[in-house]
Amino acid sequence: MIKHVDNLSITKTFESTAVNTFKLSDTPPVFVRGDGPWLYTEDDVAYLDLVCGSATSNLGHNHPAQINAIKNALDSGILHTGTRLISPFRAALYDQLSHYAGIQDISIHLSNSGSEAIETAIKLTRFITGNKRFIAFEGGYHGRTLGALSVTHSENIRLPFIGEIGDFVSFSPYPRDTSQVQNCLQHCAMLFEHCKREGEPIAGLLVEPIQGVSGVWGPFPEFLNELRKLADSYGCLLIVDEIWSGLGRSGKKFSFQYSDITPDLIVMGKGLSASLPLSAVIAKGDLLKQWKAGAHTSTFQGNPLACAAASATLLEIEESSLIDHVSDVIEPCFLRLAQSLIDDKNIGQIRCVGAQCAITFENAQIANDIQRLAMDKANILTYGGGLGGECLMLVPPINISEELLSDNLSKLATIINDRFR
Ligand SMILES: Cc1ncc(COP(=O)(O)O)c(C=O)c1O
Repeated sequence: MIKHVDNLSITKTFESTAVNTFKLSDTPPVFVRGDGPWLYTEDDVAYLDLVCGSATSNLGHNHPAQINAIKNALDSGILHTGTRLISPFRAALYDQLSHYAGIQDISIHLSNSGSEAIETAIKLTRFITGNKRFIAFEGGYHGRTLGALSVTHSENIRLPFIGEIGDFVSFSPYPRDTSQVQNCLQHCAMLFEHCKREGEPIAGLLVEPIQGVSGVWGPFPEFLNELRKLADSYGCLLIVDEIWSGLGRSGKKFSFQYSDITPDLIVMGKGLSASLPLSAVIAKGDLLKQWKAGAHTSTFQGNPLACAAASATLLEIEESSLIDHVSDVIEPCFLRLAQSLIDDKNIGQIRCVGAQCAITFENAQIANDIQRLAMDKANILTYGGGLGGECLMLVPPINISEELLSDNLSKLATIINDRFR
C-alpha cells in the first residue's frame, strides 16, 4: 500500500532543484486526476491544462483510446523485455510510424526522451559521414544531455556545464522574420566553407523547422529548402528536430512539411506517445541499417506500454482528423486572441502556428507574473518560453474544443489587460 504523504513538503524536501516544480510558485497545485483538457486537485478543483506536460499530452488526459491501449499492453503481463527480443507493440508502432511518415524506405530507432533521440541523431550522423562537426541554430533547443546540450544554443542552459562552446558545434543565426532568411542562409553557407577550410567538414545540419519553446519562430519554407540544398552540396545530413512541433502540433504531420524538403533524419519525442517516455529517429533509406548490432542501445528503448500509447495516439490523430482540427479550429482561436490584444502596448509580438502560441512581454518576470495570475485567478495553466523567457506559451491538447479554448483565451486576455491597468 502506498503511504499517504504530504506531497508538497516531501517534494520540496527531496527533489533536485534542477527541475522546475517550484519555478512559478512555492505552493503549486497538486493534481491527482486528469480528464480531457482538465487537471483536478485533491479538493476536486479543475484547472485547464494549456501546458500538456511541455507539449506532450497532446490528446489531453485520460483519453479512452490511449488508456485502453495501455491497459491492453498491461494485460499481456509484459512490462519490459528490452530490445533483444521482438515486441508486438514495438512492431505495431514501426508499422504505424512508417505509414504516418509517408516517406518511402525508412528505418526507425526508438529511445526514451527527446534528448536521447538527439543523441541518436548525433551519433548516427557522425558514424555515417565520418565527420564530427555540426551546425545548429541560434535560439534552437534540443535537450539537456551533454550531446543535446552541445547543440542547444542558450548560454544560460549550456555554459555552466560545457564551457564556451560545445566543442563540435557552430551556431548559425535563425531568421526571426522572412526578411532575415537570405542573410541567415548566407551566414550558414559561410560557416560551411569556413569549417571545410579548417579541415572540419560538417557532419550534420540540425534545425527545428519551427523553433517551439524559444517562442514559436517560423516556419520559413525558403530557409529550409535552401538548407536542404546546402546540406546536399556539402555532403552532410539534414536533421529536423520535430520533438516539439511534430505529431500535429504545427497543423501538419511534421512541421518541416511547410517546406518542400525531405530530411535525412526526423527526430520525434513528446507527442509521439503523448504520455509515456518515448522518442524516435526516423531515417531515410538505409542510414539506420549501417551500424552494427549493439552500436547504440538503451535498456528501456521501445518499452511496450510506451509503444502501445504511441500507436493509439497515431491512430487517434488520423481517425479524428486532429491535424485539420489544429489548423481549422485551434490556430484561428489563437489568431483571434492575437487580434484582441493587438492594441495593448505592453504586449510585443504574438506568434502562433497550429496549436502553439507565444505571447511576448517585456521580460521574463512579467511573463512569469502573468503565468502565475492565470493559474491563481483563472485556473488556467500556461507555460513559459521565449529566447530569454519573455513569452507566455499556450500549448493546449490538440483535440481541445473551440468553445472551451475561446472562452479561456478570453479569460486570459482579461487577466493580461488587468495586469497592466
Ligand atoms: C525541440 C525540442 N528538442 C528536444 C527537446 C528535449 O526533449 P526531452 O525534454 O524529452 O529530452 C525538447 C524539449 O522541450 C524540444 O522542445
